[in-house]
Amino acid sequence: MIDFLFRPRNSTARLHFALVMLVVLIIPVLAVRAQPFSREAFSAEGYQMSTPSRDGIGKRYMGREISRVMGHQGASWLERSSREQEERTDLMIEELNLQEDDVVADIGAGTGYFTFRISPLVPKGMVIAVDIQQEMLDIIEDRAEDSTDNVVTILGTVANTRLPEASVDLILLVDAYHEFSHPREMGQSMFRALKPGGRFALVEYREEDPTVPIKPLHKMSEVQAKKEMEVLGLQWQETRTSLPQQHLMLFAKPVDKIIRK
Ligand SMILES: C[S@@+](CC[C@H](N)C(=O)[O-])C[C@H]1O[C@@H](n2cnc3c(N)ncnc32)[C@H](O)[C@@H]1O
Repeated sequence: MIDFLFRPRNSTARLHFALVMLVVLIIPVLAVRAQPFSREAFSAEGYQMSTPSRDGIGKRYMGREISRVMGHQGASWLERSSREQEERTDLMIEELNLQEDDVVADIGAGTGYFTFRISPLVPKGMVIAVDIQQEMLDIIEDRAEDSTDNVVTILGTVANTRLPEASVDLILLVDAYHEFSHPREMGQSMFRALKPGGRFALVEYREEDPTVPIKPLHKMSEVQAKKEMEVLGLQWQETRTSLPQQHLMLFAKPVDKIIRK
């Protein structure tokens, strides 16, 4: 076909022609094939980026698409009167086996649904409620003013809890971790904040159970959760199966683990 259109006169001209054709035809083909692996497919922090699916942010961590954050406009849903019955939140708190002097960090605390149920159980300790939405913390601060003196709040960032190093006995995450836009950085920050031997309770709706009436990206499988926690250096202890809709997964920070800066 090319011979038909253009016939080089001698061998040098043929060589030049061949080189030009290589540049014109082959290199663009290679470039197109290379695109899925190009740098644009990753965020600056190394997260994989893709077209956002419904309710997702188009950012993936260890194969999981991160969900959108639940805005403070949804605060009343967290405090709905049917919640205790639907999720057996009373049982969940019992299963945490709290000690009276525990320092508990409720990360992604929202309205403080768990903060205020836990604070009377740790009278010699305290509950630190961390969230990235000041509107949520305002709800907690208003309520704490009238009812308790062992609740404090911290306005975190999307990548940092702002908790002091080795300061916490138990980290509690209820229906929050799956929406962290920077799960790796948040994980490292939580790991640092735990005392050696400290406990880590991760509660997420069960992805494995299609009857749990929650949007897919707001659920997590046990396998995925373990994978993401273990990469931080947390050790899985057990998964409680008593809750009707959620996994209660318990991890611990090893006593001899060197804190990574
Ligand atoms: C679905 S709500 C759950 C609230 C509470 N744990 C509960 O179960 O009632 C999730 C909360 O996580 C918070 N959140 C999202 N990303 C966060 C981050 N990186 N650090 C702290 N909180 C975060 C949101 O602002 C929201 O208040």
